[in-house]
Amino acid sequence: MDELHELKKAFQEELGTVAGLEDLQKLKAKFSGRKGKVSAHLKKISALPPEKRSQFGSTLNEIKKFIEKEVIQLEASLKAEVQQKRLQTEFLDISLPGRRQLFGREHPINQVLTEAKDIFISMGFDVEDGPEVETDYYNFEALNIPKDHPARDMQDTFYVSEDIVLRTHTSPVQIRVMEKRTPPLRIIAPGKVYRCDADISHTAMFHQIEGLMVDTAIAFSDLKGVLELFIHRLFGKDTPVRFRPSYFPFTEPSAEVDIGCIFCGGSGCRVCKTTGWLEILGAGMVNPKVFEMVGYKIDQYTGFAFGLGIERIAMLKYSIDDIRLFYENDCRFLSQF
Ligand code: DAH
Repeated sequence: MDELHELKKAFQEELGTVAGLEDLQKLKAKFSGRKGKVSAHLKKISALPPEKRSQFGSTLNEIKKFIEKEVIQLEASLKAEVQQKRLQTEFLDISLPGRRQLFGREHPINQVLTEAKDIFISMGFDVEDGPEVETDYYNFEALNIPKDHPARDMQDTFYVSEDIVLRTHTSPVQIRVMEKRTPPLRIIAPGKVYRCDADISHTAMFHQIEGLMVDTAIAFSDLKGVLELFIHRLFGKDTPVRFRPSYFPFTEPSAEVDIGCIFCGGSGCRVCKTTGWLEILGAGMVNPKVFEMVGYKIDQYTGFAFGLGIERIAMLKYSIDDIRLFYENDCRFLSQF
């Protein structure tokens, strides 16, 4: 009976040192396992004198039950402790709003570019392309821009080498197209152009759409009709349009095209500098000198050309007063379009 007393004491002491579930498993094996201390004592019963067996057996049984109960209790509380720790460390606040999926969208410049292209495509214009790194010949010479023309100024043109430039306009595509195709021609050439310039209305890179139509009897009235239709589709059919005499080396006669100020309706404001008009593009009848450069017979063909700046149109369309906003990639700005 002393041994049984010791057994219980030993169990209670060791139980007090259990720090976790692993310890408890070991303790359980040591006392109530098949080769544990309780079994060992059980085996001793048959060696006892018969009158002592019953008391020994029932006491051992009580101890056995006691051990099992203690183990189960401690196991439950240790498991609860582990669970509690997990709940704390793996805490998930399901009341928080989910992460919103952000959708990208077309850049406002590309939106206007696409819109403008679609209008010309609907009028039967083909879309042509040309290199952004261009030769002096295509960018200037073939367009009748003389060596001393201000557009060639070192401050305006990015020179790659003496004869290679970043194109300063999309007009060189006119030359490239006329060199490889014969009239009738009806093309637009959208793309990036480069000028060494930077302020609230100029960036070193911007976009233009060039237009060119050549056939046997193209007149200035065709130019007016095409551009008026384009402007009315883009800005609304009540937008006033005016052609103002101007000068470009590659067109003769040349014009600059204005629309009635969309901010003040023509009464005069800060944006239109009180004139009531906003300039949006340059145009004219193709200069015969340009036709000669590409080998077109000047007594056979006439044509018109035009060039418009996409950023300028986008700024007018969306009332944006600083061109640099387009290229800062600020999502707060871009997501408004
Ligand atoms: N290339 C001119 C520029 O960048 C724009 C231009 C004006 C293009 C008249 C034309 C045109 O085709 O006929 O300022």
